[in-house]
Amino acid sequence: MPNLPDALSGLRLPMIGSPLFIISRPELVIAQCKAGIVGCFPALNAREKDGQSLEAWLVQIKEALDRHNQANPDKPAAPYAVNQIVHRSNTRLERDVEICMQHEVPVWVTSLGARPEVYDAAHAGGGVVLHDIINNKFAHKAIDKGADGLVAVAAGAGGHAGALSPMALIQEIRSWYDGPLYLSGAIAKGDSLLAALAMGADGGYMGSAFIATHEANAVDGYKRMIAEHAADDIVYTNLFTGVLGNYLKPSITAAGMDPDDLEESDPTAMNFGDEGEKTKSWKDIWGAGQGIGAVTDVVSVEELVNRVEREFNNARKRLNQQLLPFELKG
Ligand SMILES: Cc1cc2nc3c(=O)[nH]c(=O)nc-3n(C[C@H](O)[C@H](O)[C@H](O)COP(=O)(O)O)c2cc1C
Repeated sequence: MPNLPDALSGLRLPMIGSPLFIISRPELVIAQCKAGIVGCFPALNAREKDGQSLEAWLVQIKEALDRHNQANPDKPAAPYAVNQIVHRSNTRLERDVEICMQHEVPVWVTSLGARPEVYDAAHAGGGVVLHDIINNKFAHKAIDKGADGLVAVAAGAGGHAGALSPMALIQEIRSWYDGPLYLSGAIAKGDSLLAALAMGADGGYMGSAFIATHEANAVDGYKRMIAEHAADDIVYTNLFTGVLGNYLKPSITAAGMDPDDLEESDPTAMNFGDEGEKTKSWKDIWGAGQGIGAVTDVVSVEELVNRVEREFNNARKRLNQQLLPFELKG
């Protein structure tokens, strides 16, 4: 792909394992990178008050990937990424950015605020920055302020999701932007990953399917709920964090609420501080995107990536056959 920076080129599959609050920790990220796709975790997941240090996590990931690369020179790991929540309630941002810059994090994903000083810090450490957006207006803003690429979060994504069809979102962004562009939202199958490329994205950003893996930091009930449910069991609400997102209805029912009769929340309730009440909500109410119908079992990351690769290749073959009657002109 000519428009991709080196860090995102030559991967086994054009895919990023997206950052998942609480769930993505070094074990998951290392497994994703070893499986040949970019693994990403939110810096906020390294909760110092629980004895987790961001710096220690970065060293752990780098050492594990170096060891893997020395032992497997013909199958090197994909680079890792760190997600920074750029929101005024994130009081750790400045310090986390400094640590990531010093450790030369190769890929940064920023969410909820386009800030040039964060992009500058990423670049100073040799990193590339993708900024996640839910509409074309925010996409323009992020690129104007210096992001190197975009993650378009469409309808159906797990966690904080957009409301736009992926077709509309990618089409509008591609009308003016030819840089790195990843599609987020309900991609849980190789066929959908191929569809993202057909629409004009450079790759897929897959989250919920990774919750149902052995390496994810989630309780077994959550993993099983992903494997046993589908799109009809997902509700789109802003009640839990102040921002619209997708959640598993059975987890809401288990918390004593009616998922089909939820109140609206106030967006100023958003809080990404270390002590945020919202953290508790994320633990009790489980986020997931509409694509989980493709997930039927709890497996290892390697098995999941193998499945997606098989499906991606089979979909390519099928598509080639389907396209045969349509002569390529020009
Ligand atoms: C439980 C959960 C937690 C999430 N936490 C974050 C986060 O901390 N930062 C972020 O940028 N995106 C977060 N997301 C959004 C994902 O990175 C990504 O956009 C989404 O999972 C893609 O859609 P999919 O789940 O349908 O694959 C989260 C999603 C889920 C399901």
